[in-house]
Amino acid sequence: MKRPTPWCTARRSISDQPAGAIDDVERAVAMQRLSLIAEGASFTREEGLPLRDWEALCRLPLPPCSRWSRQRRSISVTSVTRHSRLSRYFGIILSMSDQLTTADIARLPTAYNVAHIRIEPNIILAPMAGVTDSIFRRMILRLGGCGLVSTEMTNAASVSPKALRRHRLLDYLPEERPLTMQLSGNDPDLVANAARVVEQLGADIIDINCGCPSPKVTGGGHGSALLRDLPKMERLLRAVRAAVRVPVTLKFRAGWDEQSLNYLEAAQRAEAAGVAALALHPRTREQGYKGQADWSRVAEVKRIVSIPVIGSGDVTTAHEALIRLRDSGADGVMIGRAAIANPWIFRQIAELRRGETPFQPAPADKRNLLIEYLDICAEELSERLALNKIKQLIGQFAVGLPGSNHLRVAVHTATSLAVARAAIERFFAPFLETDAAVATAALAAD
Ligand SMILES: Cc1cc2nc3c(=O)[nH]c(=O)nc-3n(C[C@H](O)[C@H](O)[C@H](O)COP(=O)(O)O)c2cc1C
Repeated sequence: MKRPTPWCTARRSISDQPAGAIDDVERAVAMQRLSLIAEGASFTREEGLPLRDWEALCRLPLPPCSRWSRQRRSISVTSVTRHSRLSRYFGIILSMSDQLTTADIARLPTAYNVAHIRIEPNIILAPMAGVTDSIFRRMILRLGGCGLVSTEMTNAASVSPKALRRHRLLDYLPEERPLTMQLSGNDPDLVANAARVVEQLGADIIDINCGCPSPKVTGGGHGSALLRDLPKMERLLRAVRAAVRVPVTLKFRAGWDEQSLNYLEAAQRAEAAGVAALALHPRTREQGYKGQADWSRVAEVKRIVSIPVIGSGDVTTAHEALIRLRDSGADGVMIGRAAIANPWIFRQIAELRRGETPFQPAPADKRNLLIEYLDICAEELSERLALNKIKQLIGQFAVGLPGSNHLRVAVHTATSLAVARAAIERFFAPFLETDAAVATAALAAD
């Protein structure tokens, strides 16, 4: 496969930038660095440009030889690559921004506080409806490297004892602490009452969801719909804050759509309402999961509030997690989908920080974890629910293994746990044989 050139990356990044003025300070910094590079100065790796600098730099007026389309916010690659000096600037800047030095790592924050609760390490599991139940959370915590877990979002109207027994969304075990319980709602009094119940259940932190884009949720004015009425969001946060003694946090998106980006105001209102930490998924509700999470928005929020700010979105590797932490200045990183595909990612981040080579799971590790997960699901859930859980996980979990499509189809069409287990064993058998053959050959060579 052809490797994308830095130009393609630069072009994509430019195309993804929202319209609007660029920050004057960033422009000045980028301009100064550009002129220094033009004069032949080179930066040491430690002085590598933060991502937002080169993003700002990408938006600078370009020399006449390049074609710059304001409407499409893109540069014509062919014409620009002909301009060797400029392409060198970008080349240098791009390669520097992707490097992570030991000095960079040493400077990264490793913990943050949610009021009196210390979150360490500062790499945390994102709440995911249908995924992050107690079984999944315990699996992640057992693998190591994860500082905080959260329940799936629970509707504030569904916290009566009867509803709790039915959906079991707030079930947990003590080993999961500290534990965040997440609520969604629209009515300040109702959410405040639900928060009291959730505090009684033992939540260490109560998180309010202002990010869910699902029409089912926003239709009732919950989730990201609250971003359309920030005074109401603030009233709701104040009501919850007044109702409970545990810290209250907010998870939110950048705004309803590109025309109503209000993440800065939302962050300030939340802080004023007494919220103890913020987690921003820097996409709009309209974006859903399309495009890229714009982490420069996380950096902006970090600059204007004094409570901890966590970034969430599109972190898929240990390296990326640390780059995001460095470039955004965030206090922590939240990982969602990548934790399904690679539950070892938290451990890998911890290893990378210690200067060790991150653990690379072999197919046998994947097989063992999947079977272990299946067994726990079978023990703790009904057959139907357990089978659903496996079906939900399998698509992401098998990503990267050749032929994983067959496994996905086999598990999705399984009518019982036994059939799903047999499909998993069948799929992994050839990989395990290869591993065993490699190990025997290595022993023989010894
Ligand atoms: C299947 C799924 C369910 C999610 N459910 C929730 C939820 O219940 N509450 C919430 O705040 N965010 C939820 N999210 C958003 C994630 O917490 C996270 O912010 C988002 O997926 C971006 O991070 P990622 O790219 O690391 O996945 C969900 C995301 C996914 C993919």
